[in-house]
Amino acid sequence: MDKLVICGPSHIQGEVDISGSKNAALPILMGCLLAQSPVTLSNVPHLRDVTTSLQLLATMGCEVMMDENLNITLDCSVVHAKEAPYELVKTMRASILVMGPLLARFGEAKVALPGGCAIGSRPVDIHIQGMKQMGADIQIEDGFIVARAPNGLQATDFSMPVVTVTGTENLLMAAVMAKGKTILRNAACEPEVVDLANFLNAMGAKITGAGTPDIEIEGVAALEGVPYRVIPDRIEAGTYLAAAAVTQGCVTLTKVDPSHLVAVLEKFEQAGALVTHTQDTITLDMRGRQLKAVDIETQPYPLFPTDMQAQFLVMNAIAQGKGRVVETIFENRYMHVAELEKMGAAIRMSGNEAITLGANKLIGAEVMATDLRASACLIIAALVAEGKTTVSRIYHIDRGYERIEEKFHRLGANIQRLSS
Ligand code: EPU
Repeated sequence: MDKLVICGPSHIQGEVDISGSKNAALPILMGCLLAQSPVTLSNVPHLRDVTTSLQLLATMGCEVMMDENLNITLDCSVVHAKEAPYELVKTMRASILVMGPLLARFGEAKVALPGGCAIGSRPVDIHIQGMKQMGADIQIEDGFIVARAPNGLQATDFSMPVVTVTGTENLLMAAVMAKGKTILRNAACEPEVVDLANFLNAMGAKITGAGTPDIEIEGVAALEGVPYRVIPDRIEAGTYLAAAAVTQGCVTLTKVDPSHLVAVLEKFEQAGALVTHTQDTITLDMRGRQLKAVDIETQPYPLFPTDMQAQFLVMNAIAQGKGRVVETIFENRYMHVAELEKMGAAIRMSGNEAITLGANKLIGAEVMATDLRASACLIIAALVAEGKTTVSRIYHIDRGYERIEEKFHRLGANIQRLSS
């Protein structure tokens, strides 16, 4: 298994291109199942979760082509297997996103139950509830969710009991061809949901209100493939900003959308960073400035994202003053705390709160990545730590960060991948 070896401390300095968004690309890839003709996607990040999605679509009969610019063309005109097998679902929970499109276009879908994961139990009951309300018959058979709607889905008015990102996306895709007008209430407002809606609309869907809690979808008969460009990855962006903040560096992100990061940039400013932006760049300058601990509480968009919690916890550990981090989205998203403690961080846990008193000096250690964002936080910690850190199980990071060691290397980090 590959490892990353990082020797710190370093100053993160320079310019870095932000890749396409993983969490926008995955639903859009699955959304290609809705199109009767080929779709060409650009700005799709080169990541393990994307490869897994393409593999999944290929097992169903979709044709996948990639050009020299890494644009992906997907022809899902012929789909012979309407099934997501356990081997793929267990490596990528987002596989559940085939359910909505398959049910909408073919009236049937069979998806292995994803089960729990490192950050929590992560049920999919709301996805199922919504599709049932659209008239699907859904049974659990031998570890699979088996959904049938032989006469098509019916529009409905569905209020989600909890704000769920992939739940909203799955139901959005299920509803695009349902008869009549569907209303999804308490929908997730994340930019990735808006990107999916924009993609579906470009293909001929009639969706309004994406980005607000009430989304309306007027069913259409069919969708046709189009070229589409995926939005930049706001979490990758935030991760590089956090790396510059902890190392008293200065970084300029290019090909980014600052409007997706308002709550995060506000917290960086509160933490003492000088943040400036143009329409598609963000610069964070921490040179000669003192990092201050901040209080954060993770919440659905537009508030502070859970996917940036781990990175801010590292910042708080080394900053001046007391910081309080509250995780409200996932019940077990603090697996990185034990690893950070090995590096000298003092973090007091109380339920879903992580309290730091700050001014911790981090020291290199052997640590283990437990999930995607936890791995990112360990790399950030290693960049500021004195000495050598070895991060194992980095397959987690390859799921969500494109060419991470190359990007950090260019920004001045002493980072190396060891393959075994
Ligand atoms: N939930 C339910 N029932 C459901 C669905 C969700 O109770 O049917 C609960 C979850 O257990 C959780 C909360 O609702 O407590 C919110 O979960 P959500 O469904 O929004 O999460 P998700 O859609 O599974 C996506 C991202 C995550 C990100 C979360 C929250 C993708 C592929 N994944 O997950 O990204 O943390 O939204 O913003 O879009 C990551 O990139 O590292 C990552 C984990």
